[in-house]
Amino acid sequence: MIAGLSIEALRTYVGVDEFVTRRGDGHVQLQLSTWPEVEAYLSRSRGIVVPIGSTEQHGPTGLIGTDAICAEVIARGVGQESDALVAPTINVGMAQHHMAFPGTMTLRPSTMVAVIRDNVLCLAEHGFQRFLFVNGHGGNVATIGAAFAEIYNELRARLGEAAPAVRCRQMNWWDVDGVRGYSREAFGIAEGSHATPSEVALTQWAYPDEIKRAVLEPPIAPSGSFYDARHYRSRFPDGRIGSNPGLATPEHGQRLYDIAVAGLSQAYRNFLAED
Ligand code: NI
Repeated sequence: MIAGLSIEALRTYVGVDEFVTRRGDGHVQLQLSTWPEVEAYLSRSRGIVVPIGSTEQHGPTGLIGTDAICAEVIARGVGQESDALVAPTINVGMAQHHMAFPGTMTLRPSTMVAVIRDNVLCLAEHGFQRFLFVNGHGGNVATIGAAFAEIYNELRARLGEAAPAVRCRQMNWWDVDGVRGYSREAFGIAEGSHATPSEVALTQWAYPDEIKRAVLEPPIAPSGSFYDARHYRSRFPDGRIGSNPGLATPEHGQRLYDIAVAGLSQAYRNFLAED
């Protein structure tokens, strides 16, 4: 955004089409902003969107970065839709159970709590108060919740009544209204729970040059639970759980993107309007 100009003024200034292009080019990203732009943003909003994902195997055809990519593209869509700043993606999450597959990276839960705590408290020091985490990985949920508790505890213990009114929320993109319904309609039981056609479709839409194909046998992977990484690989030898990502197309991905961005944008605006 150009500092100091309202959206309407900006539309007039650059013309609507160019404005849309400029926004799409990433003017909502913190790392593509300058400090005066962030200062201007803070004079009109205290909110920020934080994509958080994982770097882990997603079956024989899914990108290692699937969870981070899904969270990132959706978060940026929310940023464009809601004039929200988007923080750098937290790319590595809690994925110890995928470590029996090459390429997977994981943080220990305690490290991840510290990473989230440091990210939030830096931004809070500048005046950000509402943090919407757009999460791309189910294995992160408990640790993100623990990090929020750690942050609130620290602010209260350190600053008491003087603490800023920091509030953190996490939302899984697949839990947004309408997403599950669409996934069920498009993929039925082949959606499964890991390396799902929905998440793979989103990455295909985001990175059409990186679409991978392979024979998946059986087409729908086995389902079930697991303990540690070794147990996971013995039960789910190609990495998928219950899914057939071979059904994914970029068109499905675009639809999922639209549904998730619309729902999360509404949730973000409600979050900012809460007292
Ligand atoms: Ni995933």
